[in-house]
Amino acid sequence: MNAEVSEAAPSGTGASVDDPSGPIPFRLLPATAEVSDEGHLRIGGCDLVDVAAEFGTPLFVYDEAHLRARCREAAAAFEGGAAYAAKAFLCAAMARLAISEGMDIDVSSGGELQTVLRAFDGDAADEVAQRVVLHGNNKSFAELAAAREAGVGRIVVDSFEELDRLDELHRVDGRVPRVLLRVTPGVRAETHEYISTGQADSKFGFGIGTGAAMAAVERASAAVGIELAGVHCHIGSQVFRTESLAKALEAVTDFAAPLFGDGGPAAGCLEELSIGGGLGVAYVESEHAPTITEWGTALSDRWRTLSDRHGLQARLVAEPGRAIVAGAAVTLYTVGSVKEIPGVRTYVAVDGGYGDNPRPMLYGSDYTAFMPARVTEPRPSRVRLVGKHCESGDVIVRSAPVPDGVAAGDLVATPVTGAYGYSMGAPYNRIGRPAVAFVSDGEARLVIRRETVDDMLALDVL
Ligand SMILES: Cc1ncc(COP(=O)(O)O)c(C=O)c1O
Repeated sequence: MNAEVSEAAPSGTGASVDDPSGPIPFRLLPATAEVSDEGHLRIGGCDLVDVAAEFGTPLFVYDEAHLRARCREAAAAFEGGAAYAAKAFLCAAMARLAISEGMDIDVSSGGELQTVLRAFDGDAADEVAQRVVLHGNNKSFAELAAAREAGVGRIVVDSFEELDRLDELHRVDGRVPRVLLRVTPGVRAETHEYISTGQADSKFGFGIGTGAAMAAVERASAAVGIELAGVHCHIGSQVFRTESLAKALEAVTDFAAPLFGDGGPAAGCLEELSIGGGLGVAYVESEHAPTITEWGTALSDRWRTLSDRHGLQARLVAEPGRAIVAGAAVTLYTVGSVKEIPGVRTYVAVDGGYGDNPRPMLYGSDYTAFMPARVTEPRPSRVRLVGKHCESGDVIVRSAPVPDGVAAGDLVATPVTGAYGYSMGAPYNRIGRPAVAFVSDGEARLVIRRETVDDMLALDVL
């Protein structure tokens, strides 16, 4: 049970590969993408050139129809329900959208929790709280207290110290929150080590292989300050092979069955088994990923087999983040300079970069590029698309395919930037984070305004 299972690295997926020098393939663009008569890209019925002119750049543009469709798909793909992993991208508008499309919401800090709760008023906030799952590998007293007070649906406990804190809080006010235990199954996801969390050597969860997970179940099932409602695992993010996630599901079920089944210390407490998120998305022309429905079907089928085998009745739930929002957005930038280094490469510098998309620098992630005003044109040139932050590593796309003749003032876009871009961005060099717009039915509305220098100066204590 404690052996680590290592999966082969993904290479995209073997499906057909789009010509990387051709026009940007539509499968990398949001669902409502279309070409206008002028050859401009429209999303949600809005010409991206106009949207950039209205709100400025850099700008995240999310296709609301795409977001809604992915939320509905996820909610339908798992009979037990699905929670949107808010860390991928969160603001009030996104919280409202996910809830309105039938998803629960997973938050991983007190800040994300407050963002979700404050997106709703009065009674609606109380109802939404019941649909919130609180995560985090080191929840403070304050975060646990706020979650209990709000009445969140589930707290996913990650350590014995959190069980201590919940006991202590219970002694004060007698509240009994529903709890899942996060376990680490010893299944290594085939992804970047920084987003791989299911292996035994992880800061997350109670290890199954070390015996910690069993001890946690024994303790939690006897605790009076919590109601043990199940187990949770999340093996990592940007995982292309559903089989890896199915293996994790199997490992967790094999672990849980004797403990939560008849005669076990936690008999009758397995209402819910959460398999976390992690479904990968295609970022570039060479990648293809399973759909949310394919992922849900693969896991639900496996779960039916496993639960029948072990006589378990629990609901299987999931927590996709990236697969909901990544493909829904593009980032618009304005080119500021073009530097050709003869015989080496051409650098095209834009007005954003690391601060709105740290993934290339953190994980070496690959992106592609296109020009919204020349979207049907081939992209025969290769340039290095770089940002304006003071780091040589501030590279957005190492080898970006673009039409010939990119020049200062042009609009350039990167697709598939809806996940872990805005949310992980930072105002390095006191370059404020971009604005975010949702587009739908021919209208563009701002959902996050641009961060200003005044916003940053407001934190300085003079
Ligand atoms: C506990 C948990 N659930 C869900 C997710 C969402 O993962 P993804 O965005 O890859 O679907 C994460 C991401 O790190 C996570 O840590």
